[in-house]
Amino acid sequence: MSKYYLTTPIYYVNAAPHIGHAYTTIAAEAIARVKRLQGHEVVLTSGTDEHGTKVERAAKAQGKTPGEFVDLISNEFQTIWKKLDLQIDRFQRTTDKKHAQNVNRLFEACKQNGYIYKGTYTGLYAVVSESFVNDAKPGDIDPETGKPYEELTEENYFFKLSAFTEPLLKFYDEHPDFVQPEIRRNEVLAFVKQGLEDLSITRTSIKWGVPVESDPAHVFYVWFDALMAYWTAVNGEDRWPADLHLIGKEILRFHAVYWPAFLMAAGWPLPKKIFAHGWLLFENDKMSKSRGNIVRPTPIAETMGVDALRYFLLREIVFGQDGSFSFDALVGRYNSDLANGLGNLASRTLSMIQQYRAGAIPQASSDPAIAAIVEKASKAALDAYDAFEFSRALEHIWSIISAVDKFIVERAPWKGGNSVDETLYTAANALRTVCVLVHPVMPHAAEAIWQQLGETGKIALGGALKTGQKIGKVAGVFPRLDAKPTIQKMQELEEAEKARQAALMGKAPEANFITIDDFAKVDLRVGQVKSAEAVKGADKLLHLKVDIGEEEPRTIVAGIALAYKPEQLVGRKVVIVANLQPRKLRGLTSQGMIVAASLGDGQPVLASFLEDVPVGARLK
Ligand code: ME8
Ligand code: MG
Repeated sequence: MSKYYLTTPIYYVNAAPHIGHAYTTIAAEAIARVKRLQGHEVVLTSGTDEHGTKVERAAKAQGKTPGEFVDLISNEFQTIWKKLDLQIDRFQRTTDKKHAQNVNRLFEACKQNGYIYKGTYTGLYAVVSESFVNDAKPGDIDPETGKPYEELTEENYFFKLSAFTEPLLKFYDEHPDFVQPEIRRNEVLAFVKQGLEDLSITRTSIKWGVPVESDPAHVFYVWFDALMAYWTAVNGEDRWPADLHLIGKEILRFHAVYWPAFLMAAGWPLPKKIFAHGWLLFENDKMSKSRGNIVRPTPIAETMGVDALRYFLLREIVFGQDGSFSFDALVGRYNSDLANGLGNLASRTLSMIQQYRAGAIPQASSDPAIAAIVEKASKAALDAYDAFEFSRALEHIWSIISAVDKFIVERAPWKGGNSVDETLYTAANALRTVCVLVHPVMPHAAEAIWQQLGETGKIALGGALKTGQKIGKVAGVFPRLDAKPTIQKMQELEEAEKARQAALMGKAPEANFITIDDFAKVDLRVGQVKSAEAVKGADKLLHLKVDIGEEEPRTIVAGIALAYKPEQLVGRKVVIVANLQPRKLRGLTSQGMIVAASLGDGQPVLASFLEDVPVGARLK
């Protein structure tokens, strides 16, 4: 069995995990499953990148030591990966002792081979945060002091990156698949062809970092430290070089230029492939902390299941390109592809076997035309997986689903006749193949359907359903979801998760205050229900007449009929929004709104008072 080692980036601990981090990690985990299916012995690593001034400052702001802070956030990443049930084999942290030794080994090897020298680094320096600012021009004002940034020169170790312009170009030429996709490879070539400049790789102005053992006034500068985590993660396991570094496109240069140059300088083997995927946008905007448009993965997984999230990310977006996330598209795809597609095929096939053949796989073989479609699509799907073209792989798999759906409708086994055995066997055996093929993307659903087919072994390529095999207990895998409440639930969980993560990061949750004047615009009044009756044709609505101290009682149409019977309400004191724009509902004009606690999926509970209050009193 050949070995396959792949990595996710090691994520910075200055942001809490969000769906962008989950995207890479889910894709990597799916690739790991494809490779396992193909018989490789796979190791997948992820981790956290924990050094640097930003982390030092974030810790200080929370009154924590950097060590305490990074433990907390690294743990958060590990917890979220577990909640998403991602099978990560090793989780590498850059604060690990073994890692510090390895970074020094890389440095010493580069030094011995003549690629390290001491020089001076001059840059603009922010005094308060004790760090160089890379993107400022001389004369720019430091917002923390109100004065221009100071120019500072410090002694650093430099890496002779300039010596690697030619060797790297030669390497890319000899390994045309090293950087993928093609568009990223072209970017790298263009960058390197301009000629490379030497790189400062240590700092004396930073404390929170891996110390240079031979010169402890220095610590390694971020990327020289970070990239080495890929090596440390499998240290002593005979796994290096990595087969694949999966990354987002913004860190391409570090992986495709610096990292191979460091390794060449040390005389160590280079990774086999760098694949840079695109950005996940939220409603067409890049997700970022400053825009506040970050989506977290766990509210989605808790509401719709991990597989729905995995499927959406890998099906909706062409891997390599940028793509958009939206809750509407997520639920839409779930209903069309999973509930109506795969879920429906599984449940109709299995229930017919249950009903017509007492739960035993019929004595028959597959219809040759369908078998040929399945075989061709399987091969195409596996080829697409090999090229990391998840969306194409899934399209091929879904072509099996629609072919089998059509076949069932044409054969109409519910009408009986002598083709029923063949029809049911064909559908079930195709479903079995679909299970195997979707397993990398949706491991939980695939396992569930596999067991319902009566299979007891591990999901594996090849083979066929045994006739006579008893199927398992049939249960729907992807129940249809009502879009509105599902999205609402995810958004509610999202708000809670956002607040929890903000507290973890030591930030006050973003304030969303209104002024007292804003509140005063809402005219809340005590009212008394005078009459209540059902609204014809609307089982959730009640038509109320509510006295709020005006000449005439108000007509109010309220969506509370599932929680309250009309007779329970008459005489009851309630709270009414009296200045809401009137609204027509079922031929009635509602002249206000009744205030109730909204319990998500549960039923409304009317606001009321423990003491007696006069009708018409204002709430403020
Ligand atoms: O760059 N869309 O860490 P990081 C797609 N520590 N992918 C996204 C994304 C988005 N909106 N947001 C994040 C670092 N990612 C370094 C890496 S490796 C030796 C050091 C994913 O926390 C994507 O994989 O900024 C991206 O490259 C990575 O998270 C950046 O994570
Ligand atoms: Mg980043």
